[in-house]
Amino acid sequence: MKTSKGLIIGVTMGCMALSSGALADPETDYRSLVMQISKSHFKAIEGILSGVVAHPETLHRHAKGLQVNTEILPHLYDPYMKNRQKSGQPTMDNITFFKAVEESQDAMAKLTATATKFVEARSHVKKGASDTTEVKQAFDKVKSKCMACHTDLAD
Ligand code: HEC
Repeated sequence: MKTSKGLIIGVTMGCMALSSGALADPETDYRSLVMQISKSHFKAIEGILSGVVAHPETLHRHAKGLQVNTEILPHLYDPYMKNRQKSGQPTMDNITFFKAVEESQDAMAKLTATATKFVEARSHVKKGASDTTEVKQAFDKVKSKCMACHTDLAD
């Protein structure tokens, strides 16, 4: 697990680096692990939609994996606040954070629904079954919602 890499989290007050490595403990590692699982699904979807890898028939599974693992998001607030306050860094207020959680989860639910529809259409060889436009749009929406809290999700 990459715990040494700084995670950039942007909040309304600007962009800051959050280094989970410096704060590593089993609980922090666990939260990071779960979010990294989400990110792996995120990367898989990105790879498939950009055509770098094949397997469009797995899009719905990755969408679901992304969605279910980010169910941990509401539980990140307290440790996030504790860590930031300890190091004197600015924080996102409660309402903004939970609104961002809700909006990202709505976007992921929509992505799962869209990807499921796409994969079902493919397997039944329906008209338009290779058209990923809708899935791409739903994924772009998810990305923009992650960016409510992160400024950089690159490796
Ligand atoms: C509401 C704010 C918020 C949203 C929305 C959000 N995150 Fe996060 N994310 C966090 C916080 C806070 C942490 C740090 C958790 C900790 O330190 O315990 C985190 C941690 C992570 C990590 C772990 C980094 C590490 O320490 O290894 C990854 C990966 C990640 N998020 C990806 C995503 C992706 C992908 C999305 C969109 C699907 C997303 N996040 C949406 C707040 C958010």
